[in-house]
Amino acid sequence: MKRALLTGVTGQDGSYLAEFLLGKPDYEVHGLVRRSSTLNRQRIDHLSRENPERLHLHYADLADASCLSSLLEEIQPDEVYNLGAQSHVRVSFDQPLYTADVVGLGTLRLLEAVRVLNRRRPVRFYQASSSEMFGSAPAPQGPDTPFHPRSPYAVAKVYAHWQTINYREAYGLYACSGILFNHESPRRGESFVTRKVTLGAARIKEGLQKRLVMGNLEAKRDWGFAGDYVRAMWLMLQQDKPDDYIVATGETYSIHELLEKAFTLVDLDYRDFVDFDERYVRPSEVDVLQGDATKAREVLGWKPEVDFDGLVRMMVEHDLELARREKHARAFPGG
Ligand code: NAP
Ligand code: GDD
Repeated sequence: MKRALLTGVTGQDGSYLAEFLLGKPDYEVHGLVRRSSTLNRQRIDHLSRENPERLHLHYADLADASCLSSLLEEIQPDEVYNLGAQSHVRVSFDQPLYTADVVGLGTLRLLEAVRVLNRRRPVRFYQASSSEMFGSAPAPQGPDTPFHPRSPYAVAKVYAHWQTINYREAYGLYACSGILFNHESPRRGESFVTRKVTLGAARIKEGLQKRLVMGNLEAKRDWGFAGDYVRAMWLMLQQDKPDDYIVATGETYSIHELLEKAFTLVDLDYRDFVDFDERYVRPSEVDVLQGDATKAREVLGWKPEVDFDGLVRMMVEHDLELARREKHARAFPGG
């Protein structure tokens, strides 16, 4: 059995990666979870039920170096995937120090624990880097594009990215940084723009919500499907040599186009329902992201299977089902 340790297992990517690894007969998955006053394991509950022997959860936090090193000693993983983060760009302007601590120093804490264990047994490390690191660099962004981060989150990711590379160069660690462009799914958090739009369209269609309040609709993103992107993470750790890769679809769409597509799927015109609120505008914005994933395609043999149309359709259909259930529950509160 191979042992994989995942930070951020309760998040969107953590749940897809755990599902992907548990789909292989030879993996045991150890997920780190944070203590919360109510349980927030909806994304992985089905995995716990289906794989009680091979999915193990441990309390830990990227802010706590001692628990990271003792868990690594206890679990002795073959692969470590660092997916944990305060991952919301807008929120990082409200909580810059916390974001820097968890995203930046948290990665360093984990790398240190990996470095110590790696002296005795080989450990492979994956860092969840982000296209946000390119920030204002002109699109398309590729391996030679310089970083110009535009948020406390992005600056912290640049720090973690370079720490990962330095641990590879200084200590010979098998450490990879995956620079992933935006990836979405029905499991995406409700405050990220794709999910906010697909859930909003579905709830408006079902009469559960009247308006959708949004920020900057001009921004463009390269959106892929999270299920495709976790496959690239795993592939990075299966190569002969560690390296860094960009993972993206190569296509870019504006928030206007996202709204148009999602609302058309429910036979509505988004212009009749969307309001603007300054609250959702960032102090400094990333205008256009569009990635060049040639290296991932050529070296890893990776390519996305779900395109933008398929992604929006998948999310709208999921959210329509949710909205219908909510409507039904309101109409028949007893069951
Ligand atoms: P997500 O849904 O927001 O999940 C984040 C995960 O990190 C959650 O499990 C969360 O736990 C955990 N976490 C937060 N603070 C933590 C802390 N102090 N210690 C330990 N764990 C903590 O994010 P995602 O979309 O799955 O993204 C996964 C990773 O990829 C993140 O590092 C993100 O920055 C990066 N990334 C994402 C994208 C994207 O488009 N999705 C693109 C590039 C890079 P709780 O459930 O307890 O909150
Ligand atoms: N969240 C949000 N809410 N974004 C909005 C809204 C709104 O109401 N209105 C417009 N936007 C715009 C944002 O200004 C941004 O330009 C774009 O929609 C995408 O916002 P998010 O979905 O919040 O994602 P992000 O691109 O800022 O960050 C995500 O992708 C990164 C990779 O590029 C996150 O998943 C990061 O963790 C990830 O690193």
